[in-house]
Amino acid sequence: MALATVEGRIYVNEAGRHVAEDVWVFGWLYHRRDKGKLQFLLVRDGTGIIQCVVSKADVDEATWQQAAELTQESSVKVYGTVRQDPRAPGGYELLLKRLEVVQIAKDYPITPKEHGVDFLMDHRHLWLRSSRQHAILRVRHEIIRAIRDFFDERGFVLLDAPIFTPAACEGTTTLFETDYFGQKVYLTQSGQLYMEAGAMAFGKVYCFGPAFRAERSKTRRHLIEFWMVEPEVAYFDLDDDMRLAEELIEYLVQRVLERKRQELEVLERDLAPLEKIRAPFPRISYDEAARILEEAGTGFRFGDDFGGTDETVLSERFDRPVIVHRYPAAVKAFYMKNDPEQPDRALCMDILAPEGYGEIVGGGQREDDLEILERKIEAHNLPRKAFEWYLDLRRYGTVPHAGFGLGIERTVAWICGLSHVRETIPFPRMLYRLEP
Ligand code: 4AD
Ligand code: MG
Repeated sequence: MALATVEGRIYVNEAGRHVAEDVWVFGWLYHRRDKGKLQFLLVRDGTGIIQCVVSKADVDEATWQQAAELTQESSVKVYGTVRQDPRAPGGYELLLKRLEVVQIAKDYPITPKEHGVDFLMDHRHLWLRSSRQHAILRVRHEIIRAIRDFFDERGFVLLDAPIFTPAACEGTTTLFETDYFGQKVYLTQSGQLYMEAGAMAFGKVYCFGPAFRAERSKTRRHLIEFWMVEPEVAYFDLDDDMRLAEELIEYLVQRVLERKRQELEVLERDLAPLEKIRAPFPRISYDEAARILEEAGTGFRFGDDFGGTDETVLSERFDRPVIVHRYPAAVKAFYMKNDPEQPDRALCMDILAPEGYGEIVGGGQREDDLEILERKIEAHNLPRKAFEWYLDLRRYGTVPHAGFGLGIERTVAWICGLSHVRETIPFPRMLYRLEP
């Protein structure tokens, strides 16, 4: 559906449907170049870039002069005839007839020369205009759309979880505390506990929203504010959970390959490893993973959770995401169910993306027994009062259930082949960055 608000106005990505017509394009000047009696204006409008040819013979002197004075990122409205030309970037060009200058931008800070990452991050609000950022954020959009389609097609109900929470879900060390009319509350670390209530009400649910972790880690995988999709399903066990997660990941990768190839090309992403992402994924136990790490000599100690290097070493062993299951219960969250066959192990799983991208999914089967859960809350020194509602879920019709969380930014970084998560979210919040 065209969204033109002005008669004859089109968006650049619609140019193919308007060959030989006179149209308006509203946008910004990306680049200008002179060639004798011709000027070439590259105009971007967010949907693409179109080359406008200004011919001295066809326009009046004032228009010629105005075009010559355009600077990078000046806002302009251009009017002209659409022509197909395989040599033009994008395949179409506009033979300019009229030009309206909205504003002349002076000294746009991001020039075609190389800039350092810090400089670009300081100018993130402007950096978003570049073609590389467009490619990444369009892949992000596609992934989010695919996530919704995946769960909606399977009959899940979208249930939004609250952002202010009175209880910690993922450990008390990474909580952001804030004041709620005199009461101490936290920004949510995960919507999981609320999804468990949702699963008992609707059977299968998911939430999709921001999560906050006051993590003092300055790594290429950590953000302070990130987005997560969290499905939760009643009468699901750990195996069901793993199958759902691998099906989702395969779906996301295939969708991006299908619909965002051009963007992956801009990013120079090697497509061969992505094309291999087909379920089922290999599954290894924590013990098997520990043996691999001990042999590799990463400094890993049995009983610990995996560090960044450990995850890299493990994920590089496989050409598909690898599911690691049954970690020691002691290093995992209070809500996890213990494996009845190995009581010191939790019925949990993490999925590590290939090519060294590390953990993109964490989840598992939840403790469904009231008394065991009460003891765990106590053992983790969590305030019982804040969890009374959660314990109700085990008092009134408790059933086995499982779910997981998939981090959007790490998934985007992996699929786009980026070395850091900072470019996968429009305005990243990191340990040393809160602006812009
Ligand atoms: O493994 P996590 O902490 O699991 C949970 O929060 C569960 N309550 C989810 C659930 O079972 N419903 O986080 C899940 C995922 C990670 O695998 C990772 O992809 C992402 O969220 N994640 C982060 N992404 C960026 N920056 C951070 N600081 C992240 N912390 C977790
Ligand atoms: Mg985790």
